[in-house]
Amino acid sequence: MPYFEMTNDIDIKDLGKKTSAYKAAEYIEQGMTVGLGSGSTVFHVIVRVGELVKEGLEIKCVSTSSSTSALAKECGIKLIELSETDSIDLTIDGADEIDPKLCGIKGGGGALLFEKIVALNSKKNIWIADSSKLVDTLGKFPLPVEVIPFGHRRVFRILEDKNLNPVIRKRDGSIYQTDSGNLIMDLNIGTISEPDKLDKDLKLINGVVETGIFCGIADMAIIAEGEAIEVIVRSQQ
Ligand code: 5RP
Repeated sequence: MPYFEMTNDIDIKDLGKKTSAYKAAEYIEQGMTVGLGSGSTVFHVIVRVGELVKEGLEIKCVSTSSSTSALAKECGIKLIELSETDSIDLTIDGADEIDPKLCGIKGGGGALLFEKIVALNSKKNIWIADSSKLVDTLGKFPLPVEVIPFGHRRVFRILEDKNLNPVIRKRDGSIYQTDSGNLIMDLNIGTISEPDKLDKDLKLINGVVETGIFCGIADMAIIAEGEAIEVIVRSQQ
């Protein structure tokens, strides 16, 4: 039974996003505290959770961004602050790139800092994505790095000196500001051979708040090509 009717105006990527989102929503149980990620794939989760709440599902959700909070409220979902709970049962989030070991790049939508904090507070993390996000090696997607505005030119110079090709993210001609008031430098690296090491090295630079490298965080990825689902589970080593 398909999760929803295929229509002409929905392309294969959107269908994959929606399919993976609806599948992930099946992991939500009564009484859970659920982390809601951000982005166009998570959009479908929020809508689905809204439907389930109307049907009687009682859960509390922790949001990772102002846009997710706004949509969740519209859908009638009860939101709590992260500080109001000891831990989150399950977080569902999207990703920009996912490798076979479930290392990923996140932050294309700019919510990487709160997304990582929420993920690290979660007992289980499920990533959802259409199949175009699966890659052999990370790095084609520019790696977002969140940087404090104060003194950011030094950070930029250091990243340039490391040949990481930083670009300060802009939106509508102005410097993009995250929900925490920081800016994002997108690193055009091409291939990231040691993501964990790069993450640690970048965080040693004074002024870098967080990077979009998420390794050892997702327990499972639900990847969909159209309506065909592939589930990848991270091996515990
Ligand atoms: C936002 C994110 C998103 O999860 C990521 O960018 C994927 O977004 P989308 O589902 O729209 O492709 O990390 O910070």
